[in-house]
Parts: sequence; C-alpha cells; structure tokens
Amino acid sequence: MKLKGWLRKHKKPVIAVFLFLLTVIFLYDGNNRLDITEYDYTGSDVPQSFEGYRIVQISDLHNKVFPNENAGLMEEIRALKPDLILLTGDIVDGNTHTDYDAALLFMQQIPKIAPVYYVFGNHEYQLRLSMRTAFVEQSQKWGVQYLDNENVQIRSDAGETFTLIGLNDHSLRTSDLQKLVDRAEDDFQIVMAHEPEYLWSYADTGADLVFSGHEHGGQIRIPFTHQGLFAPDEGLFPRYSEGMFTQDDTTLIISRGLGNSRFPFRIFNHPEIVAVTLHAA
Ligand SMILES: [Fe+2]
Repeated sequence: MKLKGWLRKHKKPVIAVFLFLLTVIFLYDGNNRLDITEYDYTGSDVPQSFEGYRIVQISDLHNKVFPNENAGLMEEIRALKPDLILLTGDIVDGNTHTDYDAALLFMQQIPKIAPVYYVFGNHEYQLRLSMRTAFVEQSQKWGVQYLDNENVQIRSDAGETFTLIGLNDHSLRTSDLQKLVDRAEDDFQIVMAHEPEYLWSYADTGADLVFSGHEHGGQIRIPFTHQGLFAPDEGLFPRYSEGMFTQDDTTLIISRGLGNSRFPFRIFNHPEIVAVTLHAA
C-alpha cells in the first residue's frame, strides 16, 4: 500500500525515468545488436572450384568495440565460416573518435578467423599520415593484407583463381579502376571500393562483383522499408545505402557497416555483417 501511494505521488518522475531507461536500451540495442545479411552471387565467370566459397564483408567499424572486447562479434563472424574476409574501409574513424586502439584491437583479432584484405575509406585519409602508416604496418604484422590500388589472385585448393582488386578511396575515377581491371589475370574479378554511389563507374569497367560501405545504411532507417534517411554524398533518402544492385554485368553489394562517425546512434539500423556465397553458373 505504501509503495502504491508513493508511486501515485511521484507519477510524473517515475514515467520520465521509465521512458529514459527505455530510450537508453533502444539506443544501445540499435548500436550493438548484429544483423547478418546473406547473399548468393551466381556468375558464369566464377570458377567451378569456388562453388560455395564464403566471403564475409566488414565495413565502417569507426573505432567501435563491441561488448566483451568484440568476443560476440568475432564469434558471429567465425560462425559464418568465411573463406575470405574483406574490410571495405573506415575501420578507423578520422575525426570524432580518438580511441584508435579500438580499431587496432579489431585488426589484431580478425586475421585469426580467415585471410583478410583491407582497403582505405575516406576516414583513413583523414588521419595524420604517420598515424595511418603506423596503423597499416601494425595490421600487416598481425596478418591483414592491405591493398592500395592493387590486385591479388585468390587461389582455390584446386588451383583455380579469381582476381581481388583493392581500390583506395582516392581513386574513384573510372580510369583508376579500369587500369586494375585491365591488368587482372582472371575473368572473375571482385572489387573492394568504399563508396557505392559510383556504381555506374564500376559498371563501366566490367568488373563482376563490387563490395562497398560508406553510407551507414542511411543512419536512420524507416521501419518496414529498405530505405535510409540520409547518407554522405547522396543526401536525403539515398538510393545506395544497403543491399544488392546490378548494373550491366556488375553486381554491387553494400554493407550498412558496424559503427558510427559524427552521429552517434543507429536508429532501426543495426550494425551489419554481410556474407556472400559464390556460385558457378
Ligand atoms: Fe563510414
């Protein structure tokens, strides 16, 4: 009876505290509960021995550490049984977060799961040159393979190969990627390129499959739609904020990413791990 009376007397502050706690839980969940998005990619250029090959894409970590020093994050990635892991830029945040060690922790952990390749996004270029260089050198010591407008051949156990192209974020003109595509030694090419809004340009080169991030899913997503609210370089209601797109012979896969930059919350937009299974047509 005493409690009932007390609650009646303090109705307004009790409701305010309850709503505050609900908001905290909602925002925490929005930034920390992981979504896994699976895609299948079928292509006539995919070599037969890459049938069922698993690629996991991680993008836009922005110095975030998930609970228990990423234990759950690493567990989720490991459970996807990746053959290859692609980091498509903005692993480090260039302006708002100073906890650069958080990005280093991730770079130390991730190569323990599968071979990892990494390209720069726009944020890596916002770091001081000495810091950026130190970040790459340390990551390479742990086994992360950094691609700076470079091609590498990925080989199956059967000896077949495809070409992985790492395009840096300062090279988004068609001609930059065209040079790398022309140099590729395989018919099947996968491109890592941070920014998705250049799909037309990627498609002009004839590259097969492109992985991008950058748009953070539009930061706030409109519930029950696949529409984000705002994205850098695309503005309101961005076309390219998540999902799979095709133009001519090129398929683009966009990750909503894992972290945040200036705006600290993801609303109806959980951090996303993308997993793609290749199929030979
Ligand atoms: Fe980003």
